[in-house]
Amino acid sequence: MDSILVTGGKPLRGEIAIAGAKNAALTLMPATLLSDEPLTLTNTPRLSDIKTMTALLQSLGAEVSALADGKVMAMSSHGLNSTRADYEIVRKMRASNLVLGPLLAREGHAIVSLPGGCAIGARPMDIHIAAFEAMGAIIDLKDGYLHATTQGGLKGGVVKLRFASVGATENVLMAATLAKGTTIIENAAREPEIVDLATCLRAMGAQIEGDGTSRIEIQGVDRLHGATHPVVTDRIELGTYMLAPVIAGGEVECLGGKLSLVESFVEKLTEAGITVEETDRGLKVRCDGGRPKAVNVTTEPFPGFPTDLQAQMMAMLCFAEGTSVLEEKIFENRFMHAPELIRMGAKIDVHGGTATVHGVEKMKGAPVMATDLRASVSLILAGLAAEGETQVNRVYHLDRGYEHVEEKLGAVGAQIERIKGQ
Ligand code: EPZ
Repeated sequence: MDSILVTGGKPLRGEIAIAGAKNAALTLMPATLLSDEPLTLTNTPRLSDIKTMTALLQSLGAEVSALADGKVMAMSSHGLNSTRADYEIVRKMRASNLVLGPLLAREGHAIVSLPGGCAIGARPMDIHIAAFEAMGAIIDLKDGYLHATTQGGLKGGVVKLRFASVGATENVLMAATLAKGTTIIENAAREPEIVDLATCLRAMGAQIEGDGTSRIEIQGVDRLHGATHPVVTDRIELGTYMLAPVIAGGEVECLGGKLSLVESFVEKLTEAGITVEETDRGLKVRCDGGRPKAVNVTTEPFPGFPTDLQAQMMAMLCFAEGTSVLEEKIFENRFMHAPELIRMGAKIDVHGGTATVHGVEKMKGAPVMATDLRASVSLILAGLAAEGETQVNRVYHLDRGYEHVEEKLGAVGAQIERIKGQ
């Protein structure tokens, strides 16, 4: 397994191009199942999760080709010949459950493996299941698989989500485009990736209003046609690289960054005394090497502070002046990075969903273990300022959501390298 070696103490200077969003691409790709005409995505990120979704769609009989060095994804489900999403693929990536809605809407039946447990939480699918049952589906759990059927197809109706789940909103939004009548999703998630999905579906001929708000209205149509759609910028990759100069010192411009994607995050950076500047190419962060101020953070659904930036923010707060309180409200087990940061000299107390971070002046490099995607990059960020070398092991987690992290950080002056097959 690869690992990444970071030698701390180098201020950063330069620009980093932000890729298309993993969490948008992973819901846009299953949208190809809603039409037998081609769907082409541009600005797609080159990540192992995209490869997993490609394998899943191909296992259903769809054609998926990565073009232009992987930045363009040409897809067609004209040859769809299966509605079964196998455990062997689903266990690798829970976003595989986003084929359930499109398959059910198009074919009236689907068999999708339940993803099973995850490092950051139980992550059940009860909200997805209740939503499809409200649209007339019958769903049974057999041998670890959801067996979903309909009588005469999905029917529109009012679907009230008990929690603003991103995945459930995306699954229902896709399915409702082909359902009979009107579907209203209440307490819908409002993430930018959902607006990106709705924009793509409208380009395919869907009738959707209200995406980005907590009430989305979808008028079902008989069929959707092909389209080409650019994947929205990855706001989590953006936030991650905006923190790099805050932790290591220096100035970095994140190309393609937009303030509207990261407002609650930038509010916290500003509160910590960090300057964020909008440029005509993106967002620039400058830090003269002084320590940020401590701030309290609570993760919430969008437009609140994103849980996917919590670990990276903790890495910054380890070096802050004062004590910060971090509350994780979305996932029940998302502080696995804390014990690893403590190995590097951080002072953190974790009690349930609350972590109290006592800022320190210095941290020291150490061998550490990545436990999940965002935890792994928080350890790399901490390594940028820690004295000596930090070796982050199990970086396969990282490759799921960050393309070429060592090249991107190396290009702005970080001393970082990938150690192959440790
Ligand atoms: C999406 O996951 C993202 N993944 C996650 O990013 C992100 O952390 C999460 O949204 C929240 O923003 C993708 O888009 C592929 P949820 P998702 O359904 O859709 C509970 C990353 O690092 N819940 O909004 O799975 C659930 O357990 C990943 O890129 C139920 O209880 O998130 C969690 O506690 C990690 N029952 C909460 O809701 C359900 O049926 C939010 O989950 C569904 C969810």
